[in-house]
Amino acid sequence: MRLLITGGAGFMGSNFIRYLIRTYPTYEIINFDKLTYAGNLENLKEVENNPRYQFVRGDISDADAVSVAIRGVDAVVNFAAETHVDRSIMDPTAFIRTDIFGTYTLLEAVKKYGVGRMIQISTDEVYGSVAEGEADESHPFEPNSPYSASKAGGDHLCRAYVKTYGTPVIVTHGCNFYGPNQYPEKFIPLFVTNLIEGKKVPLYGDGRNIREWIYTEDHCRAVDRIVHDGKLGEVYNIGSGERYTNIEVVEMILQEFGGGDEMIEYVQDRPGHDRRYALDSSKIRRELGWNPEVSFRDGLTKTIAWYKENQVWWKKLKSGEYLEYYMKLYGG
Ligand code: NAD
Ligand code: TYD
Repeated sequence: MRLLITGGAGFMGSNFIRYLIRTYPTYEIINFDKLTYAGNLENLKEVENNPRYQFVRGDISDADAVSVAIRGVDAVVNFAAETHVDRSIMDPTAFIRTDIFGTYTLLEAVKKYGVGRMIQISTDEVYGSVAEGEADESHPFEPNSPYSASKAGGDHLCRAYVKTYGTPVIVTHGCNFYGPNQYPEKFIPLFVTNLIEGKKVPLYGDGRNIREWIYTEDHCRAVDRIVHDGKLGEVYNIGSGERYTNIEVVEMILQEFGGGDEMIEYVQDRPGHDRRYALDSSKIRRELGWNPEVSFRDGLTKTIAWYKENQVWWKKLKSGEYLEYYMKLYGG
């Protein structure tokens, strides 16, 4: 099988490429990535000299570049996106370009070159804040940030291409990911790296927002099941069912560091901050036999250990452009 992985230099894309190379000894992988601030080829050191792996620098919104990379592949898995809610609040432009127009460009190329299947990696955030119960795949879209609205736009295009042209697309809605190689602007890696540096952690609002968390390896196995046996035209939620308030997560992290509540700094809330995400993921469990295997406690322990052991990796990222962004966010 020959796979085009877009956004493969980011957090989950690079975890998925390493997973594929490890799991399938004959698969060939093309990693097509623009290398934005979030793309990092150091995430792929383990596979960079493997003859079955190839890197192509390119933008998914560039139809010419996509048409070269996509020819002859059996499947496309699209991880490429602008992904951070706070950045989307400061400036949505890149989100609209990549998450909507980039998805459209990929869909056109899949249609034109007769690619067997495209998996669109999307998010539970398109369902908006779920006050109670769980959102299944038929839950209405109610995005509340420019990030989730852009992802929803891409997902709607996927649906329209399935219905109008019969394009072979599957959309996933994942809950919050965590694990090795996550850029240290996101909640868990930001808090863990701050604590390693002896700094306080900035908790938004009252800290009682609820997120559902899935470990990288479990998400890789879910996408693997969908690439191989997912039904074309369908949508699959990918969730663990493990939901915690942000304060609960911070308490678990602090326990691992032996720190107390004095390390928490309550800061101004994020505008439009979704209160709760909760997925009904019974469809993928029932139809594809997938189940998460790593508990949040175990995944968190492994993740903290990874950030402690890979300080060179994240210290480089927590400087330069990142600092500029951080100062805009906190006016520091
Ligand atoms: P990330 O921000 O770590 O990486 C994104 C990657 O996409 C980077 O390598 C970047 O260089 C690349 N990219 C950005 N714009 C591009 C463009 N125009 N063309 C080509 N490459 C481009 O993202 P992530 O956290 O690994 O998320 C991967 C996917 O999963 C995204 O689609 C995201 O919406 C979705 N998702 C993420 C989470 C989460 O908790 N992180 C949860 C659910 C869904
Ligand atoms: P984040 O990792 O940005 O993911 P999401 O896409 O779900 O917003 O944030 C996860 C949760 O953590 C979310 O409720 C916002 C909160 N948060 C903080 O309290 N402080 C922070 O510095 C960050 C980045 C997030």
